Amino acid sequence: MIYLNGTFMPIEEARISVLDRGFIFGDGVYEVIPAYSRTPFRLPEHLRRLQHSLDGIRLENPHTNSEWSELLEQIIARNSSDDQYLYLHVTRGVARRDHAFPKGVAPTVFIMSNPLLPPPAELLATGATAITAVDNRWLRCDIKGISLLPNVLLRQMAIDAGALETVLIRDGFMTEGSASNIFVVKKGLLLAPPKNNLMLPGITYDVVLELAEEHGIPHEVRAISEQEVRAADELLLTSSTKEVMPITRLDGRQVGGGVPGTMFALFYRLYQDYKDKVMRRGAVHTP
Ligand code: PDD
Repeated sequence: MIYLNGTFMPIEEARISVLDRGFIFGDGVYEVIPAYSRTPFRLPEHLRRLQHSLDGIRLENPHTNSEWSELLEQIIARNSSDDQYLYLHVTRGVARRDHAFPKGVAPTVFIMSNPLLPPPAELLATGATAITAVDNRWLRCDIKGISLLPNVLLRQMAIDAGALETVLIRDGFMTEGSASNIFVVKKGLLLAPPKNNLMLPGITYDVVLELAEEHGIPHEVRAISEQEVRAADELLLTSSTKEVMPITRLDGRQVGGGVPGTMFALFYRLYQDYKDKVMRRGAVHTP
């Protein structure tokens, strides 16, 4: 079951106008929120980022946080998996085609859910393959906009090369992946690029840095050069659906020893423990 503009319905019955500005201009924003054991993960943080994205495109938030929370709860209840990935999407609504914002038009609000499967054990054991490419996106990558054409093309470059992800380089520095954030490990130090307009502020990225802080793992947030990416002992990829994943090959060369490293093993465990901990805490409030 999905939610569209006030109604829950099977996805096959959902219809939007061809004049929706999401369809015509890619004029909208979205969020992907994991739910474990039917509890949304880091919901306040996701809703805060949604607000940031809406502010970035000058679109009024159609719902309060408690309304969003209620809608997501309903979607979770109407879908069968215990672990789900929730996709929510707001566009500037339906209007005659004109680049300028329409007046008095209601936004389109869409929420769907899909089963959330953990990354395959085999992939975690061997590590993922990635390529690099020039980051040719716009200068507001901090907005989680639905206009994903550059990300789609960049990700397809990886697929065409038999790889999982494309690591993006802008002006000699690493920004992020086409659909993930990227960390570098060198000599026991975890390096993360600073949040700015050139990357999406990942929710999983924040969890990793919080865990590093909490567990006294040496880390630094600073610009990371392309050379540092290529000379890394380990590369870690993070996203809401992939959690923490090792990258063991980059542009056909081994990363470090070519196998998942100790920093990956540490963060994988810390991330799973953190998930268990917050879900147990969440369960207290669930009837
Ligand atoms: N993508 N950077 C980009 C460009 C992304 O698209 C994503 C996530 C991330 C990681 O953010 P988070 O940890 O909050 O998921 C970074 C989602 C999963 C997607 O578009 O499907």
